Amino acid sequence: MTESTEPAIVAGVDGSPSALNAARWAAHEAALRPLPLRLVHVGTTGACLGEAQEQAQAAEPGVRIHTRLRTGAAAASLIDEAETARLMVLGSRGLGGFPGMLLGSVSSALATHAPCPVVVVRDAPPQRGPVVVGVDASASSDAAIAFDAAARRQAPLIALHTWTWTDMTLGETWSVLPIDVDYAEVAEDERRLLAERLAGWREKFPDVDLGQRAVRDRPVRGLLAEARDAQLIVVGSRGRHAPDGMGLGSTSQALLHHSPCPVALVR
Ligand SMILES: Nc1ncnc2c1ncn2[C@@H]1O[C@H](COP(=O)(O)OP(=O)(O)O)[C@@H](O)[C@H]1O
Ligand SMILES: [Mg+2]
Repeated sequence: MTESTEPAIVAGVDGSPSALNAARWAAHEAALRPLPLRLVHVGTTGACLGEAQEQAQAAEPGVRIHTRLRTGAAAASLIDEAETARLMVLGSRGLGGFPGMLLGSVSSALATHAPCPVVVVRDAPPQRGPVVVGVDASASSDAAIAFDAAARRQAPLIALHTWTWTDMTLGETWSVLPIDVDYAEVAEDERRLLAERLAGWREKFPDVDLGQRAVRDRPVRGLLAEARDAQLIVVGSRGRHAPDGMGLGSTSQALLHHSPCPVALVR
């Protein structure tokens, strides 16, 4: 195994401030696991790699950091790097784009197509606050990552499950009108459902301080509200309504555009 193929946390750097935030966050994650960190630049000169390595190493002196310069198309080359990555970390923005653009094309491509979990870092990432995970009907690999991230950080974990009237009725028959719904009873059902879904994980991670919240809200609004104080938010990359090959679910996409804290996307 060579330095460029061994299991590692990989961060893409392009000389932008956002990518430096990503490199520092990745160094912290590498220290927690522990794994080496590989900083990759796709381009013709590696000047930006030196700066990123310096900052990442200063942030985490104990982490082994390699750099790698690749040529080719940025998104395709990083997807290739992701084949041997445990986690791919990117800034939300790069050097291109335009003011007001919330997510760059490279980040967007990796969020949709990377074969490993992807973390997108927007601002200087906080190292305090809870880890938040959105729990829907299909939550499993995202819960694994979230419990693991909270345990390593010794941070509380908030498991958020949102529900709306359409969730309750669309799958079944339109036998009730919203006006006839006993919301208190539904809320109780949703709370029970969430607790059931998390029971196995609580057993596996007994030391994680877990908060369970079932709220009547849209997923994006609920998760963005939690993201304000969080240090990491974990979601599945594909929503229930997006079939295979359709790319990102709408919730993941909205979080990538608007979450102030790093967003982890899990397949
Ligand atoms: N050439 C590249 N090499 C390595 N990583 C890159 C490269 N271009 C972009 N990235 C990564 O993707 C992130 C977002 O950049 P990008 O999607 O290109 O946004 P923009 O459209 O603003 O340039 C960067 O912060 C960096 O982590
Ligand atoms: Mg770019």
